[in-house]
Amino acid sequence: MKLFILFTFTAVLLSCGNPSSESTTEGAGAEEKTVTLYTHRHYDVDKEIYAAFEKETGIEVNVVKAGADELIQKMEIEGDQSPADLLLTVDAGRLVRAHEKGLLQPITSDVVSGSIPAYLRAEDDSWVGLTKRARVIVYHPDRVDTSKLSTYEALVDPEWKGRILIRSSGNIYNQSLLASIVAHAGEDAAKTWAEGMVTNFARRPKGNDRDQVKAILAGEGDLAVINTYYLGLLRNATDEQSAKAGNAVKIFFPNQDGRGTHVNISGIGLAKYAPHAEAATRLIEYLASKPVQERFASINYEYPANPEAKISEELESWGSFKEDKLPLTKLGEMNRAAVMTFDVAGWE
Ligand SMILES: [Fe+2]
Repeated sequence: MKLFILFTFTAVLLSCGNPSSESTTEGAGAEEKTVTLYTHRHYDVDKEIYAAFEKETGIEVNVVKAGADELIQKMEIEGDQSPADLLLTVDAGRLVRAHEKGLLQPITSDVVSGSIPAYLRAEDDSWVGLTKRARVIVYHPDRVDTSKLSTYEALVDPEWKGRILIRSSGNIYNQSLLASIVAHAGEDAAKTWAEGMVTNFARRPKGNDRDQVKAILAGEGDLAVINTYYLGLLRNATDEQSAKAGNAVKIFFPNQDGRGTHVNISGIGLAKYAPHAEAATRLIEYLASKPVQERFASINYEYPANPEAKISEELESWGSFKEDKLPLTKLGEMNRAAVMTFDVAGWE
């Protein structure tokens, strides 16, 4: 497996205009033996899955890793010369953006549409969700009275002043959460919420989701808003501090009496100019299949998008919850409004 890690946009630019040699040597109808995957995912399990796919099909997976924005920009610059067959992101918003820019094409596969429910797919099937992640509240049970927890909206109550930990507004997970509030309640309500959250911050936003949980353990705050899989990763981490932080907190699924907990996806889109659309479709089918979904999702503590796939024991222990079924395209459509709202609210 070839692995190219692009750290900077300079590297992205340098690599432009060099379509893979495979695409020039393969004629139409020839069996495609390679697929190029642009991915923003940064989890160890992925590598293992691609290796298994290679072994099973003989199709080599060329992985190009970078941030989703960089990858989208790269695809735009490369245009119809792009070697990208697939774009894999860690949120729906970026897939919607890529689609709006005309960088994707519909995935034609009954296997895929039969495996992944419609609400986790683009209307024209140009992208599909592969795993789900819920953005939840985690809290220290000795310092938080659970009867006071209810919704994202209730976190702006004076009760929580100086107690909330959450990462910066530049992060797509927060942008999508706020985009969902814009979609449900409008921009004014979203602004009021963002301002109220800022008032209740325990500290200036810094670090990633895992750092917020470690800060609860350190006593810097009492609750945090994080993606579910980070709790699984912390609890099962080999380093003691991470495991200690993960086990010090409990999980709470907000908005259960209303619209449900905000859920985002890690999903995959088929590139408009995919030189190997057939092999790419095979990889999507593979990733959507029950056994691979069980592995793909459970090792990283994500929820499988394929409802046939079983969830891991760790996730089982968190209990079932009601998901916000807002169409995921809304997260992309409302992203700009969310980013502007964060700015106005002073959420760094
Ligand atoms: Fe993540």
